[in-house]
Amino acid sequence: MAQVRALDHIAIVTPDLEEGLAFYEKTLGIQCSHIEELADRGIKVAFLPIGDTRIELIAPLHDKSEVSGFLQKRGGGLHHLAFRVDDVDADVEALKGEGVRLTSEAAAPGAHDCRVAFIHPKASLGTLIELSTPPSATE
Ligand code: CO
Repeated sequence: MAQVRALDHIAIVTPDLEEGLAFYEKTLGIQCSHIEELADRGIKVAFLPIGDTRIELIAPLHDKSEVSGFLQKRGGGLHHLAFRVDDVDADVEALKGEGVRLTSEAAAPGAHDCRVAFIHPKASLGTLIELSTPPSATE
């Protein structure tokens, strides 16, 4: 079992980050606080804090990005829910031991220097779930 502490963010995929930001900032009035390129995953992400959580907008940097397949299939939209956990590495081991399907064998670096892992949608009622541990929690 993982031990979830909070809803860290809700991630939405958009083909174009500027267009996505325009909707969230100008139509919904939620302001962006942070933009980051994750070149190894082929994506650019923007974070928009709202209440105790954040919206994460994800856009592809090229057509081989980790969200390109999703964009082709669905045209964008809700991509994953991210939950904050104290120790994602321990949770990954625990979940693997319980036979819960993950999208990779180990946690990896994510935005904001977090460590992240994903539970496969087939193991989580159809919604991709990210488990995320902020850097301060593991230092
Ligand atoms: Co995320």
